[in-house]
Amino acid sequence: MKQEALFLPTIVPIKEIRQEIPLVATFRLPKPEGFTHKPGQFLEVSLFGKGEVPISISSPPSYEDILLTIRNTGYVTSAIHTLKKEDKIGIRGPLGNSFPYEEYKGYDILFVGGGIGLAPLRSLLWEMLYHRGDFGRIILLYGARTPSDLLYPWQYEEFERKGVEVLLTVDRGDEKWTGNVGVVTTLFDKIKIEPERTVAYVCGPGIMIKFALRDLAEKVGIPANNCIATLERHMKCGVGKCGHCVIGEKYVCIDGPVFRYPEIRMLEGYDDPW
Ligand SMILES: Cc1cc2nc3c(=O)[nH]c(=O)nc-3n(C[C@H](O)[C@H](O)[C@H](O)COP(=O)(O)OP(=O)(O)OC[C@H]3O[C@@H](n4cnc5c(N)ncnc54)[C@H](O)[C@@H]3O)c2cc1C
Ligand code: FES
Repeated sequence: MKQEALFLPTIVPIKEIRQEIPLVATFRLPKPEGFTHKPGQFLEVSLFGKGEVPISISSPPSYEDILLTIRNTGYVTSAIHTLKKEDKIGIRGPLGNSFPYEEYKGYDILFVGGGIGLAPLRSLLWEMLYHRGDFGRIILLYGARTPSDLLYPWQYEEFERKGVEVLLTVDRGDEKWTGNVGVVTTLFDKIKIEPERTVAYVCGPGIMIKFALRDLAEKVGIPANNCIATLERHMKCGVGKCGHCVIGEKYVCIDGPVFRYPEIRMLEGYDDPW
């Protein structure tokens, strides 16, 4: 990827839009020439006259296009949600670090997601499915507020067909829901794993990340260094210049957004936004 791609948006047409659940849609974009990324990286997505927002790449690197799953939450994202197929959008990146991957070949993999946090995990999960033989068990624990908030509802069966153990939970069920009710950490008691040979990748709301990492390391017994999360902070530039994303000595946009549990615990001011 050319260096300018980090500072200047590349304008691309939207190839397709899929409404996943209310307020959340996935936008399919063509890869600009030479574009490559790693799971965990994000793009700054821009709309002229509106602004720019950081959005994780939810497709795996091996996939032919770029997929961005975006929640309509405010000024810029609501404008993005008015776009149609063939409309143009700006992308800058890929930005940030990525989930450690190579060092965990041969490990069992535990994904722990909450809400829209499944989007960045999906990039890594699919990349591992493209290289299924490189990894042991793959388990997905995923929670959302209600059954209709569970992201990618059409995809769980496909994950299971590919050998992923999927456990879902919701904070509040409805008349049709027969599954688990409770926060995602309540699923930890329902799985039997070998903690020493397991790596956990976590993404979701800040409060969920905090408790999930603590329980994974301290109750489930996964070595703290193998408990990995991707953090969200308010961002502007995405390239370590503006200071909007700073926590302690770290710039979430360039030192992260992926951090290991011991590093997260040490970040000065980590507890403030919870
Ligand atoms: C590295 C990274 C990856 C992200 N990946 C995704 C993704 O894949 N899909 C997705 O839908 N969203 C993602 N986000 C969050 C997304 O960037 C924000 O929802 C977006 O910037 C909101 O912009 P807006 O102009 O629509 O909302 P605004 O009008 O600016 O704000 C609406 C509300 O959202 C809050 N908000 C704004 N930005 C953030 C933020 N960064 N973190 C938490 N709260 C925020 C505001 O305080 C306000 O309450 C990611 C954020 C980061 C930092
Ligand atoms: S977003 Fe500007 S320094 Fe990180």
